[in-house]
Amino acid sequence: MVKVNLAGLELKNPVMSASGTFGYGEEFAEFFDLSLMGAVVCKTITLKQREGNKPPRIADFSGGMLNSIGLENKGAEYFVQTALPFLEKYDTKVFASIAGNDAGEYGALAARLSAEPRMHAIEINLSCPNVTHGCGRGLFCQNAQTSAQIVAAVKAAAKKPVFAKLSAMVSDITQIARACQEAGADGLTLINTLPAMMVDLKTRKPAVGNASGGLSGGCIKPVALKTVWDVYRAVKIPIIGSGGIMNANDALEFILCGASAVQIGSANFVNPLACKEIAEGIEEYFQKNNLRDITQLRGQLKI
Ligand SMILES: Cc1cc2nc3c(=O)[nH]c(=O)nc-3n(C[C@H](O)[C@H](O)[C@H](O)COP(=O)(O)O)c2cc1C
Repeated sequence: MVKVNLAGLELKNPVMSASGTFGYGEEFAEFFDLSLMGAVVCKTITLKQREGNKPPRIADFSGGMLNSIGLENKGAEYFVQTALPFLEKYDTKVFASIAGNDAGEYGALAARLSAEPRMHAIEINLSCPNVTHGCGRGLFCQNAQTSAQIVAAVKAAAKKPVFAKLSAMVSDITQIARACQEAGADGLTLINTLPAMMVDLKTRKPAVGNASGGLSGGCIKPVALKTVWDVYRAVKIPIIGSGGIMNANDALEFILCGASAVQIGSANFVNPLACKEIAEGIEEYFQKNNLRDITQLRGQLKI
C-alpha cells in the first residue's frame, strides 16, 4: 500500500476525489467501495445554501470540459446532517471544501465544521472562477495578502489540517503559495480549473449560461504539472496535485513533480471507476519498480 502522510494525516493511498466532481461520494459508492480511496474531498460548501449559475453549466470538447456551476450547494447544516453520516461508513479520510464571501465567513464555517469528528481536514477553495467576490475583484487567491488573511482565519478556527486550493491564473504562484504557508496552511492543492470560454457558432452564444467557466480535464495537465513543480521547490508544506489526471500514469507524473497526493476530477465524469483504477495503477507501478515509499518518487524529476 502506497501510504501518504499529509500534514500528520495518514492516507492509505495518494488518491483523492477533486471537489465538485464527486458530490460526497454517494453516486460513486454504487460503483466501488469508497474505502479504497485515500480521501474523499466533498463539493465546496458555503455557510448558507447557494443557487449557483444559470444553465447550461457544463460543456465539453475533445481536450476536456468547461463548467460554470457557481458553487451551488445546500449549505453547512445540510452537509453536516447528510454528507458526514454517509461517509462515516467508509474507512477513508474526509475533507470538507469551504468557500465564503470574506475571511470572517471562511472562519465561521471552519469553526462550525471543526466540531465534527467525522471530518478530518479542510480544503479552502480560494480559486473558484465561477463566482465574483466583492466588487468583481477576481479570485481570492490572486492576491497574496487576501489569501493569507483567509488561511489565517480558517487556521485559527479549525482544529484540523488546512489545505489552500490555488489557481494557476496568477503572475507568480510561488508568492501566493509562500503567503499561504506563512499564514499557517498545512498544505496546498494545485490547481483549480482555469478561467475559459467556449462558444457555439450555430447559436452565436457562449456554451455555458454564465458566458465563461472553469476549464478542466486532460488539456490543463501540462499547466498543473508546471505549477506543482514550481511550488514544490518554493515551499515546505505538502502539495496535492489536481488538473487533468485521467489515469495512473498522469497521477505518477504529478508525484514525480512533487505532489504528495493527487485529486481526480473530470475523469470521474468519463469513468466512474477512475479513482479506484488510478489507486490500483499507482500501487502496481510502485510494486513493479520496487518502490516502498512515496518519497522515493516524489519530486524526483530529473532536470
Ligand atoms: C463540474 C465541476 C465542478 C467543480 N466544482 C468545484 C468545487 O465546488 N470546488 C472546488 O474547489 N473545485 C471544483 N472543481 C474543480 C476540481 O475540483 C478540479 O480542481 C479541477 O476540475 C481540475 O481537475 P481535473 O482536470 O482533474 O478535473 C470543479 C470541477 C468541475 C469539472
